[in-house]
Amino acid sequence: MPKFDCHLFVCCNQRKPGHKRGSCNPDGSEELRDALKSELKRRGLGATVRANMAGCLDQCELGPTIVIYPQAIWYGGVKVKDVERIVEETVIHGRVLADLLIPDEMLNTKGRPAAGPQ
Ligand code: FES
Repeated sequence: MPKFDCHLFVCCNQRKPGHKRGSCNPDGSEELRDALKSELKRRGLGATVRANMAGCLDQCELGPTIVIYPQAIWYGGVKVKDVERIVEETVIHGRVLADLLIPDEMLNTKGRPAAGPQ
């Protein structure tokens, strides 16, 4: 079995409505992770790229959040409609999507108001 080239960790944390930090998966559907898995499979990448369910990645205010390793690319405000271009641009071509990127200086800074990375 080949090694995995890439892991996409998708926050699937669900909190109760009204929680001050929000959550990336408020309805518990895990639709973002499922959409990534489906897109990887559709493109024949399922054997070398994994989309893994993750617990809270501690960037809640910028969610829904994913992190892609080994590149350590953090994306926030990710929607299902972004899945195709994440796979096409970032996973396949190694290009960072500026509109989804959480800049390093915004990581691990709790207490921001709920908002996207821009
Ligand atoms: S709930 Fe997703 S990063 Fe915390």
